[in-house]
Amino acid sequence: MVTPRSPGIDSEVKGTKIIRIDPSRPEIESIRKAANIIRKGGTVAFPTETVYGLGADALNPEAVMKIFKAKERPPDNPIIVHISSGDWIRRLGREVPRNFWKLNDRFWPGPLTMVLRASDIVPRVTTGGLDTVAIRMPSHRVASALIQESAVPIAAPSANLAGRPSPTTAEHVINDLAGRIDLILDAGPTNVGVESTVVDLTTDPPMMLRPGGTTYEELRDVLGGLSLHPSVQARTEPHIERALSPGMKYRHYAPKAEVILIEGNPDAMVGKIRELAKEYSSDGKKVGILAFEESIYEYSNATVKSMGSMVDLKTAAKRVFSLLRELDEEGVDVILAEGMPERGLGLAVMNRLRKASGYRIMEI
Ligand code: TXA
Ligand code: MG
Repeated sequence: MVTPRSPGIDSEVKGTKIIRIDPSRPEIESIRKAANIIRKGGTVAFPTETVYGLGADALNPEAVMKIFKAKERPPDNPIIVHISSGDWIRRLGREVPRNFWKLNDRFWPGPLTMVLRASDIVPRVTTGGLDTVAIRMPSHRVASALIQESAVPIAAPSANLAGRPSPTTAEHVINDLAGRIDLILDAGPTNVGVESTVVDLTTDPPMMLRPGGTTYEELRDVLGGLSLHPSVQARTEPHIERALSPGMKYRHYAPKAEVILIEGNPDAMVGKIRELAKEYSSDGKKVGILAFEESIYEYSNATVKSMGSMVDLKTAAKRVFSLLRELDEEGVDVILAEGMPERGLGLAVMNRLRKASGYRIMEI
């Protein structure tokens, strides 16, 4: 379905245009094309430092509705509003607490989203009907150039179909959304790999709603007090003995394959995964394993993917979503994932893996 190039457009898939763009020095003509689409109420997928986002004019309700439709996103799930300069803050937020400025000084631009009370100019379509608005200033040059050139704040959820792993490359976006959106800016793989951390500043103390690229520890050091929403570390389902029972309800970040997360001390974890891999393969299932470098050679009879070293979880964060998609493409039936400590980026990666597993978690 790839059609030949027209000037300035690298390719087109099912009517969605794709432009390759330099992540460090985005070509201004390409940014202008994308910004024109945003200003006219269209949809553009673009890279941020975390994951690719699906953008539209945040102040135009009809444009924002196109995002919900393309993603098949439930209308009560609010969308983050992206800005490229501080000028917009007082226009979007009704009250801007001191903590906002503290976090702004330390973490913006970057993988942090802050929730404030919303002003009247923010359409309630964008906020999923809430009276609060989530705001983020991304550091990726393509993202900030696009926002600046569009001259409006850009509403952008992750550019995946609802329920699927977030996209860290343009190919992931094409797989989910080609034919549903106007344009994709392809700047190669993103750097952080998990989405931004979401912090609600309308409560005292502030509350982390979603762990992400900015760590709990870093935020707490600046804020003094920071509570964690119970969903951040939820293991909704009780610990499952042998996680073969199908049809667990809520799934998110989910590949097509069944995911089982194994948590515990590294040696016991490896032993359990070896045992499970053997059982599943003898049942005729194709097994994928998400493992750390330290234990990768312990496994056989499986498609093994590395999350990097357990000592530095940056690589795990960067790769987790794309490895889930890769294993799907390789046709595995079951993915067995090694757990990790919930410190630093480990809090975000474990949160994503627990959700991807539909809470099929084995603690040993
Ligand atoms: O890194 C990211 O945050 C990426 C890139 C594109 O910026 N965006 C992203 O958006 O992950 P999305 O829609 O996939 O996730 C946004 C999260 C959702 O969990 C949503 O419920 C929450 O932020 N959120 C948005 N607005 C909110 C609000 N007003 N109050 C509470 N939570 C909110
Ligand atoms: Mg998302």
